[in-house]
Amino acid sequence: EKGGFPSFMDKEIHDQPQAVADTLLGRLDIDGKLTLDEMHIDETVLKTIDKIIVIACGTAAYAGQVAKYAIEHWCRVPVEVELAHEFRYRDPVVNEKTLVVAISQSGETMDTTMAVRHARQQGAKVIAICNTFGSTIPRESDAALYTHAGPEIAVASTKAFLSQVVACYLLGLYLAQLRGNKFRDEITTILEELQTIPEKVQSILDNGKQQVQALAQRNQDVGSVLFLGRHVGFPVAMEGALKLKELAYIHAEGFAAGELKHGPIALIDDGQLVIIVVPSKRGRDSLHAKVISNIQEVRARGANTVVIAEEGDEEVREFASEVIYVPQTTTLMAPLLTTVPLQIFAMELATAKGLDVDQPRNLAKSVTVE
Ligand code: BG6
Repeated sequence: EKGGFPSFMDKEIHDQPQAVADTLLGRLDIDGKLTLDEMHIDETVLKTIDKIIVIACGTAAYAGQVAKYAIEHWCRVPVEVELAHEFRYRDPVVNEKTLVVAISQSGETMDTTMAVRHARQQGAKVIAICNTFGSTIPRESDAALYTHAGPEIAVASTKAFLSQVVACYLLGLYLAQLRGNKFRDEITTILEELQTIPEKVQSILDNGKQQVQALAQRNQDVGSVLFLGRHVGFPVAMEGALKLKELAYIHAEGFAAGELKHGPIALIDDGQLVIIVVPSKRGRDSLHAKVISNIQEVRARGANTVVIAEEGDEEVREFASEVIYVPQTTTLMAPLLTTVPLQIFAMELATAKGLDVDQPRNLAKSVTVE
């Protein structure tokens, strides 16, 4: 059942091209229009919403944070992302014009379920993005958009994360289409890029895994790892850090690279491992330049800099102890690629330490208590 892989996590990392492809399947009709069958919320309601709040926990919340950049850009609707347990116990401003998007792999996370109930009591419409058909959260929501990642067994989420980002993007494009924020041909171009993601993820698995494995093995004794990113690379950095905490029990933190000089740079000491997610230079030149200067800042203070960059980016080489290249894509699609080496890094480091990557200590796959 592990498909010849040493762990479920390894298998699920390799399932990702299929998980992304399956999540896209059947949602585009022949003339390029996006259709979401599970969208049982009236179109007139979706046209009038003035705010989106994403609620989730753990990795699912990072998927939401990635999606915020895309949905705001495409739909011009403000998107807040909030941990479900925080949302529930403050007094959030939620009403009939709020669309709540609840993201959950299992569909059974109690914190998220309680937040869904609270949102609906306030009159909000709730869409569940979920991987488990018929589970509590989609049943209690107004609509469900299923990720088709297949069962995820390893406690730490991998393929569900990529599928959640894809599902959120489909939702964002659907809303943009419905609300007239984007023209059909623009949406088609974005969807075309999305459809190239499975083969690009596959190429990372085929060509990059050994390099990341060797890197992890060399670093199995590190005491802490810092992850830096900007824009969509910021939630990717946090997700990379979470994976390392969960699997390898190593202290890790993900920072917004721009925040470095406001605090975290004090942590940089000789030999500190810093993993930096670099945005495409073709996408937004200024963003790329800013991250390059962040790499220089930590390197000047002795950091060991490992860089995740897109193929063809030669500029980063000069400032990196090691570069891990991922295929080229657009700025907003990049998280679907840059996350993959970080997943492999955490898994291989934990494996090198002799840890159980499928069942990390103290964690449960689905937390059904508040
Ligand atoms: C945690 C799991 O307890 O719950 C994480 O260990 C997961 O992997 C989080 O991201 C949220 O779970 P779900 O099922 O609501 O996506």
